[in-house]
Amino acid sequence: SRLRRTFRWAWRLTYLSAAGLVGYTFYIVYQDRHPEPQFEPDPTKKTLVILGTGWGSVALLKKLDTENYNVVVVSPRNYFLFTPLLPSCTTGTIEHRSIMEPVRAILRHKKAAVKFYEAEASSIDPDRKVIKVVDNSEIKGATSETEIPYDMLVIGVGAENATFGIPGVREHSCFLKEIGDAQQIRKKIMDCVETAAFKGQTSEEIDRLMHMVVVGGGPTGVEFAGELQDFFEEDIKKLVPEISPRFKVTLIEALPNVLPSFSKQLIDYTENTLREEKIDIKTKTMVKNVTETTVEAEVSRPDGGKERVVIPYGLLVWATGNAVRPIIKDLMTKIPAQKDSRRGLAVNEYLVVQGTRDIWAIGDCAVAGYAPTAQVASQEGNFLGRLFNNMAKTENHESRIQELSSKMNLQSGNSAEAAQEIEGLEKQLRRIKDIKPFRYSHQGSLAYIGSEKAVADVSWWNGNLATGGSMTYLFWRSAYLSMCFSTRNRVLVILDWLKSKAFGRDVSRE
Ligand code: FAD
Ligand code: NAI
Repeated sequence: SRLRRTFRWAWRLTYLSAAGLVGYTFYIVYQDRHPEPQFEPDPTKKTLVILGTGWGSVALLKKLDTENYNVVVVSPRNYFLFTPLLPSCTTGTIEHRSIMEPVRAILRHKKAAVKFYEAEASSIDPDRKVIKVVDNSEIKGATSETEIPYDMLVIGVGAENATFGIPGVREHSCFLKEIGDAQQIRKKIMDCVETAAFKGQTSEEIDRLMHMVVVGGGPTGVEFAGELQDFFEEDIKKLVPEISPRFKVTLIEALPNVLPSFSKQLIDYTENTLREEKIDIKTKTMVKNVTETTVEAEVSRPDGGKERVVIPYGLLVWATGNAVRPIIKDLMTKIPAQKDSRRGLAVNEYLVVQGTRDIWAIGDCAVAGYAPTAQVASQEGNFLGRLFNNMAKTENHESRIQELSSKMNLQSGNSAEAAQEIEGLEKQLRRIKDIKPFRYSHQGSLAYIGSEKAVADVSWWNGNLATGGSMTYLFWRSAYLSMCFSTRNRVLVILDWLKSKAFGRDVSRE
């Protein structure tokens, strides 16, 4: 009977927690759908222009008290993209809209209204304090180009894909940075499969079409290769069995190993796992040229010699890291202090662009001495949010102190009360003004490597914990789920995972 009682209690507890979770989700959804009315910002306040709607800018927006500024956001993308799950969209494990959050929905939850313009900033004039913006979307109105003045500017435009000027890359390969890239890859995988299965297709052509080549063994390349091999093993093999023995994934990396930023133990684990998954890893192989159907690479042999190889491919995914965007290059030429900077805008410890006033840079377009990751970008955005809130508070306090002091000089009646308030404000001011410089706190690195395994290099107490395998995969899933932008994203991602597990991935080509 004791056992029965324990069981009954455990059942009640589970029931209550489930009911609590459902209730909480409903509450969050209700709040999301019924935001408080917004007020228009005070036009006398400073204009803060934010470029981009990526990790850095959105973290800043989340933290910022928008009632302190006239906030204007400019980005060609009217949504935030949760990039860590982008590789899963290439095979349909996750549908792309599940990891997108409309920026209008984000801004609607701010206290004071924020202006959003879907446009690209084409140039920045730091002397006149204006940015030029262009609407490059398909539908053009009578005005598609204008200037926006700013008092304060935050640049969070990210980076573009590095090609190192290698011929043929832009024309023939797919990148993996934006939603459109993932959609294109998804279409192309199935196009290759269907074309390979075409009646009378030559054997040589089947081998080429079924050969998926990934260039770049960083986390993007490794995660994509893992997702692709899963897609093949779990779905394509069952649906198109006649050509399945010809399917092959090759991962090409110029350095001696993949995932160079991870610890040695995890690099070995990843390479072994990828090989077990039958992914062909070609390290010390640098791609030099790309044609419509082949990749030409230089292989460094163990004896020190070099060998040229030609690799035919059906799908080529190029994931060799970041390059500086043209708008950043252009701005760097206008600032003498940036002349030695190569990888982006050099910033100081408060993320101010060196050699400028009132311009800050965050994320992949800024060089602050950290890796170009979402973690860094969001911590930088968060830092600026706090900084700007403090700056606004400082100004408010200082003007209030000034107001009280002049009152005190005019009338002596309430001077004791005013003096007390001044003292309190000054105390607060000292605390507010004591803002420490930006310090990045590394939480660790995670990467999915296929066949329901992941690797993690995480900070643990005062040390580092390197782990890989199926449990790490569960950790990877729960970590990224908790980091998704909204409850809506979280629910959609869970449903997508369940859907692809239960029914298989959708192989129809849109
Ligand atoms: P982004 O997030 O790239 O945002 C840039 C924004 O600026 C976009 O909204 C863009 O539209 C806009 N923009 C571009 N040009 C202009 C312009 N001229 N004017 C105005 N706006 C402009 N990092 C991790 O830490 N963990 C991960 O698991 C991880 N996974 C990743 C997976 C993939 C497939 C990729 C590609 C990257 C991944 N990263 C990850 C890296 C991470 O996504 C980037 O470091 C991060 O997005 C950088 O944030 P950001 O705000 O600088 O730029
Ligand atoms: P990366 O810069 O990390 O890796 C690119 C790789 O391509 C390098 O290893 C480089 O040696 C290789 N390469 C360059 N040119 C080549 C050539 N011609 N031939 C063959 N190989 C070549 O780029 P990635 O993976 O796109 O990542 C960009 C940033 O985003 C990194 O900071 C990364 O940490 C972050 N990121 C993090 C993820 C995670 O934590 N799970 C996932 C994806 C990206």
